Amino acid sequence: MRDEMKNGKMMNLRRLVLAGFCMGAASAPGAQQVGAAVAPAPSASAEQIFRIDGGDVTYAIGVTKEGALQTVYWGAKLGGNDPLPRPQAVGRAFEINDSPQEFAGWGGGWLSEPSLKITFPDGNRDLVLHYVSHQMQAHGMTVVLKDIERDVLVTLHYDMDPATGILGRWATIENRTGRPFLIEQAESGEWNLPRSGAYVLRYLTGRWGGEDQLRTRPVVPGETVLESRRGLTGHEFAPWFAIAQNSRVTERDGEVWFGALAWSGSWRITVEQDEMQQVKITGGYNPFDFGYELAPGKTLNTPVFYGGVAQHGYQEMSRLESEFQLARILPQAPHPKLRPVLYNSWEATGFNFDETTQERLADKAASIGVERFVMDDGWFSTRTTDKEGLGDWYPNPQRFPHGLKPLIDHVHSLGMDFGLWVEPEMVNENSDLYRKHPDWIVHFKGRPETQARSQFVLNLALPEVQQYILDFLDKLVSENDIAFLKWDANRNFSEPGWVQASPDEQKKIWVAYVEGYYHVLSTLRQRFPRLEVESCSGGGGRVDLGVMHLTDEVWPSDNTDPFDRLSIQDGFTYAYTPEVMMAWVTDSPNWYNGRATSLTYRFLSSMQGSLGVGANLNKWTPEDFATAKQMIAVYKEIRGMVQRGVLYRLVSPRDGSNVSSTESVARDGKSAVVFAFLHSQQMQYPFPTIFPQGLASDTVYSIQPIGGRLPSGTPEKASGAYWMHHGIDFPLRGDFAAEAAVLTAE
Ligand code: DGJ
Repeated sequence: MRDEMKNGKMMNLRRLVLAGFCMGAASAPGAQQVGAAVAPAPSASAEQIFRIDGGDVTYAIGVTKEGALQTVYWGAKLGGNDPLPRPQAVGRAFEINDSPQEFAGWGGGWLSEPSLKITFPDGNRDLVLHYVSHQMQAHGMTVVLKDIERDVLVTLHYDMDPATGILGRWATIENRTGRPFLIEQAESGEWNLPRSGAYVLRYLTGRWGGEDQLRTRPVVPGETVLESRRGLTGHEFAPWFAIAQNSRVTERDGEVWFGALAWSGSWRITVEQDEMQQVKITGGYNPFDFGYELAPGKTLNTPVFYGGVAQHGYQEMSRLESEFQLARILPQAPHPKLRPVLYNSWEATGFNFDETTQERLADKAASIGVERFVMDDGWFSTRTTDKEGLGDWYPNPQRFPHGLKPLIDHVHSLGMDFGLWVEPEMVNENSDLYRKHPDWIVHFKGRPETQARSQFVLNLALPEVQQYILDFLDKLVSENDIAFLKWDANRNFSEPGWVQASPDEQKKIWVAYVEGYYHVLSTLRQRFPRLEVESCSGGGGRVDLGVMHLTDEVWPSDNTDPFDRLSIQDGFTYAYTPEVMMAWVTDSPNWYNGRATSLTYRFLSSMQGSLGVGANLNKWTPEDFATAKQMIAVYKEIRGMVQRGVLYRLVSPRDGSNVSSTESVARDGKSAVVFAFLHSQQMQYPFPTIFPQGLASDTVYSIQPIGGRLPSGTPEKASGAYWMHHGIDFPLRGDFAAEAAVLTAE
């Protein structure tokens, strides 16, 4: 295995360009340099405290006299001269369980989730990590820990974003013992909260077609586990958590600790409350079936676990996350381009199309103001159903007798750029690629191979598979003027075998596959810097901060029903920026649930994210084209606010709510857009008054409705104070009604 090379690639992904924050060691006698050639013996003898400040946050860690590394504070920024709590002295063996460890090895009486668990070749499984040295760096700090006896070194990396106070943490585990050992659990670290029995956990759960449903539950004694065992991020849980101080925390008030993992494979986050009401959150690789044999001299990096603190409720949490992702995570950070309005042909054509069909759709898409035309699945080899052709990446000669160029030229002549769907990690059994390389798939030798959507997963841990994918994508993108790839992945792992690896290295697939995937994507982006990519996985099966570092947008769900999307989008924005949240306007009745909605309702639902159109334009009436043209023109005016602004979830669509409303305010506060949705009116009750937030009280804003009219008596202009306190009355009636209004400072 090429651990170093792979880990080197991973390091490239960790683009944590963070500067300008204040950080210091309260006492650092004898501090040693990270990465000394010979591992020094643990030798702490004096207490030390290190402090990191950024945004409105202080994070502090301390070393006990014995050498244990503990969290001493994570919360609102403290005064520069405030005394920091001392680390807790740990005397008798099991007292260690009452102390907030930063990165616990499994050993020495530790009973909670460890960050690192190792089996050594002699059968020893005891690991006690003590402080060795630390190093202050321009962008953060590192702390080196070492087992009290063996040459197992762990370097903890800390990087805090100066603007938002979001801290990125990960660990490098190094084997200097001279013999291989087996890592059975490797986490990025532990987040420790102040002791309390009143915490409330929020998390995102779902399934295919029903992703990102926000759930709330008290943090109770024991463990709550959020995870994916699927090899990919998964639809079931987002690798994200938010923990509020208590159940009274709202969108606007109260302290919230939050975090997200940057990993696109199997992951796990555990929220644990111990018997002393100490709450800790541990996260990183999923220990389920984990087994990473680390050869002497090699290292393993854990994923980055980002964490932050918001003082003013969930709204501020989302603002911090969004600012951080736009400025630090996305490939084009710190200045990602505004997302173009795209058209995608999937729901219009399915697998049934040719060059002419696509060109006619492109004509119509261009006529309503679409900026990017994307051809979805079915353009290549023999792929006319989902049962064949996947893996053979050349244009279907019957459908595209002269290749893709004529269609792309046509799209360009209409003033749009061109995007293409690919699913590089997968292969149909009925394909030339599978016939030639049946051993390239993830499977166990001699065991049945489970198919899903008639396809297998190619093992991206294999360099030859990475090369195959890079070669065909390189050819496709260099021979055709392609601005955008929609990168799909429509199934999870099953039978996670890696037949080319030796038995003791097989389980490395959980890490090596994802590193292979990141390697292909980052190499592609390096070769084609202007190429943009969307992460899709049968809807929202691969959305996380790791993939968002390499892709410009994500597809939250295959469920395009505009009403269901309100709660999917609501959940999504708790963890991720609306900029990357693709949202298509599709047909009515919707294919997913048969629900009929007006075109205006569909547009307004989608205009809360990155707008796309996925309807069958061949069925549209002239009135539909006129509505769409007008809505897209409006969207282009407001997309800066929606994609870059500050989001306020004014009324939640969750839990069967009959109404919902969001507002996006431009960063400079000079404009805002308010969306309002009515599910079904009863007894002629009027739609409740909506109260915008985040406006400048003394500034005068004019109001302009989108998609309807405001009631007579609504002033054409009024102060921010008026709109925020008097509110806006949207005259919504009936079922699935929607309207929006733009407020613009005079
Ligand atoms: C699943 C995606 O989520 C859809 O949007 C579409 O691209 C299909 N795959 C195509 O097979």
